Amino acid sequence: MPKPRVYCSHELFEEARKILDATCDVEYWTPAERPPREEVVRRVKDKEGLVCLLTEKVDERLLRAAPKLRIAANVAVGFDNIDVAACTKRGVVATNTPGVLDETTADFAWTLLMAVARRLGEGEQLARSGNWKGWNLDQLCGADIWGKTLGIVGFGRIGRAVARRALGFNMKVIYTDAVRAPEDAEKPVGATFQDMNTLLAEADFISLHVPLLAETRGLFDAPKFFRMKPTTFLINTSRGPVVDEAALVAALESKKIAGAALDVYENEPFIHPGLKRPNVVLAPHLASASLETRTKMAVMAANNVVSLFQGQMPPNMVNPSVLKKR
Ligand code: DGY
Repeated sequence: MPKPRVYCSHELFEEARKILDATCDVEYWTPAERPPREEVVRRVKDKEGLVCLLTEKVDERLLRAAPKLRIAANVAVGFDNIDVAACTKRGVVATNTPGVLDETTADFAWTLLMAVARRLGEGEQLARSGNWKGWNLDQLCGADIWGKTLGIVGFGRIGRAVARRALGFNMKVIYTDAVRAPEDAEKPVGATFQDMNTLLAEADFISLHVPLLAETRGLFDAPKFFRMKPTTFLINTSRGPVVDEAALVAALESKKIAGAALDVYENEPFIHPGLKRPNVVLAPHLASASLETRTKMAVMAANNVVSLFQGQMPPNMVNPSVLKKR
């Protein structure tokens, strides 16, 4: 039996490669930069499997070009780069990598929160610049974190992991979500469900943890910033388009909010020039980027592919209804 042919738009890590190579005939994209779109479309033409990153659009056009494709395995938990409905229509299984990156992403949301509150970016620049003249009473005074109110938008696995860390800072945790979480999720972290407007008015730090959906695109717009306190910081490790960047820039310019710490952007890798200001901490989409976690994500994607070709149900399907089409 010939091995199923798979295109992998990244080299992955050795652990994941071993899993894929054992049962599949895999073609890897090896250059350091991301493959051009046309290259991916060309490479998938004769493939039954695709392992891709969130930088690859799996849309109608790509699917049309790949009539043999049976699975698109994303190495990410977010799958807004995949047109799931189009995959389902064409009988293509789509998978993601949930769970393994929650704690690492929560760590990074806190990294950003602390960096923007305590002006670490500005301090680091000063320390490296050679212009630091020594300790001074009013130098780069930031905002306290402990005892403040943390507002979490999206109380799923990652939002809850962010909330757990707030316990150590003696913070009040409030959250909002489409539906209220069960008591056993709220109680251990002392989180209280609030409507969005109350959260906007009360939180000192607002951390976003919603997936990018039609309902969450542009969720943080001008009216939302208007409701926030001028001392509040926005932290976004979810998806860039959840925030209306032009509205955020306007809110920062008019001092409607105190600052922002961002890992994700509306049109990555483009960063709105208005965000490049001292009270904004900018990271290049790093939230899940620990070696341990990224390795687990790659292994998970590889296992999803292999299990499908071994006749099993891939463990992390985002469109299980596709199986009815087979
Ligand atoms: C994801 O998994 O969706 C992240 O954004 C990449 O870490």
